Amino acid sequence: PRNRIFFWKVTYSTLAPDGVTRPVILVNEKYPGPKIEVNRGDYVTVVVENALDVPTSFHWHGMTMRDDPWYDGVPGMNQCPIPAGTNFTYAFGTDNIVGTHWWHAHFENQYIDGLVGVITIREPPATDPFLHAYDEERNVILTDWYHQATGPLLQKYMSPASRGMEPVPNSGLINGKGSFNCSNVIPADLPCAPSERAVIHVLANRRYRLRIINTSAAAPFLFSVDGHQLLVIEADGTYLNPYLVDSIPINSGQRYSAILVTNQDVANYWMRAEMGTECMPPGTNLDPVVLGEIRYQGAGIAPPTSVGRFVPTSPKDVNPAFSAACQDLDLFALHPLKPEPILEPISNNYDIKISFKTDGQDHIVRGYLNDITFDGNPWNPTIVQNLNDAAEYSVQEHVMRLDRRGAVVQIILDNSRGGEHPFHLHGHTFQVVAQGLGVYEEGKTPINTINPLRRDTATVPKHGFTVIRFKVDNPGVWALHCHIEWHVTTGLVMQFLELPDELRAMGIPKHVAKLCETPAPAGFKAN
Ligand code: C2O
Repeated sequence: PRNRIFFWKVTYSTLAPDGVTRPVILVNEKYPGPKIEVNRGDYVTVVVENALDVPTSFHWHGMTMRDDPWYDGVPGMNQCPIPAGTNFTYAFGTDNIVGTHWWHAHFENQYIDGLVGVITIREPPATDPFLHAYDEERNVILTDWYHQATGPLLQKYMSPASRGMEPVPNSGLINGKGSFNCSNVIPADLPCAPSERAVIHVLANRRYRLRIINTSAAAPFLFSVDGHQLLVIEADGTYLNPYLVDSIPINSGQRYSAILVTNQDVANYWMRAEMGTECMPPGTNLDPVVLGEIRYQGAGIAPPTSVGRFVPTSPKDVNPAFSAACQDLDLFALHPLKPEPILEPISNNYDIKISFKTDGQDHIVRGYLNDITFDGNPWNPTIVQNLNDAAEYSVQEHVMRLDRRGAVVQIILDNSRGGEHPFHLHGHTFQVVAQGLGVYEEGKTPINTINPLRRDTATVPKHGFTVIRFKVDNPGVWALHCHIEWHVTTGLVMQFLELPDELRAMGIPKHVAKLCETPAPAGFKAN
């Protein structure tokens, strides 16, 4: 194991990843941002220099942050944000984690503006079950993309006029590249020039592990490669019994590894990331099929002529492999390579209803989890408040205490009325016990009792439910939220205060406490 140190400078910049120039926020002037690629067991240190004129913070999506909970990066929960013009150092161990993860800003909606990157934790060869299953690996980073900065989009979204309709992306990117048709640019005077799509170079007759990551603000994708199948071996850091598919639905926050065997004719093939417009408000100038190239060596550079399995006959047609309910890849078919029994017995059961409504006063539509819309702006984070063992939390902070080590928590995410939501839990990989349409009925709805899938982000289908379980064993403050970034702002967030006494005994590093020593700045509530 080694200590790996990364130096990051966060700055404003401009970028035209799909040909349309817009303001962005970048780490080290890169989009997607710098990779963190380490071996399991390595210790990761990230020195952040915040050169913005607003605060920032970073979250390590997929890391369980065991023993390092104050570096999880959620303002109001684990830290005070890093003030403009200052430095802050994050550090975390990777003993318990392998696989494909990602990092992103967790302050306001900054990640939509460009603050995202890949985290790869490699298994040491001696224990890697897939060491001989592939020859090389490539990242496939998917995202929806907007032609405006997030600020104005957010202002519009959080106003009565939006009636709760999320901003619709203008295009999509693969590995930070896309190709937008400039004649569709709105407003027409936005600078736009032809740009190149992502190309992944391959050799014939080899096996490539594609690490597919959805970093979207909102959009789910259906990912496929023309003329090839994909052998899925990992979901959110959990190795799987290999499972062969034509295409992979992947929601915001989720990751899959899939092996692509380049055993077809030497040619170029489209990678397709079809945006799940079925599950979003319709876009006016959006081409929902985001393309990139798999380019075999020797095939030349002419664009592919391959066709997908699904050929739409009108722009409104959605791939039936995707459209029905916006669900995850076959829950009952995916099983971890290393089996674990279903977590039982259940000690804490939370039935969490997802809903949207206006409170009648300001006419703004907000999201509610059990009738609480999260207000994420108390200045002192829960982890600091918890140092005082008489701490009291406001209803809007939506804190659930988990006091007993070893207890099993079940969360029923009940979404019988709404569109789909990818829910992410910080600090844990959970078992996905059930997922389906309609309402979950204890004892009646079939559950996945045999070696259930373990992951950290699961879709709650449109008009459906998802049931997850995890064990109380990681002292910290862990967010549970919809990974549609707009829905974080609108209130679909809650937090678990896990093992508060153990957490208090751990104390808090001096430089983390120091972030909170200044009085609450404008926009934050003193608490
Ligand atoms: Cu990737 Cu709290 O999120």
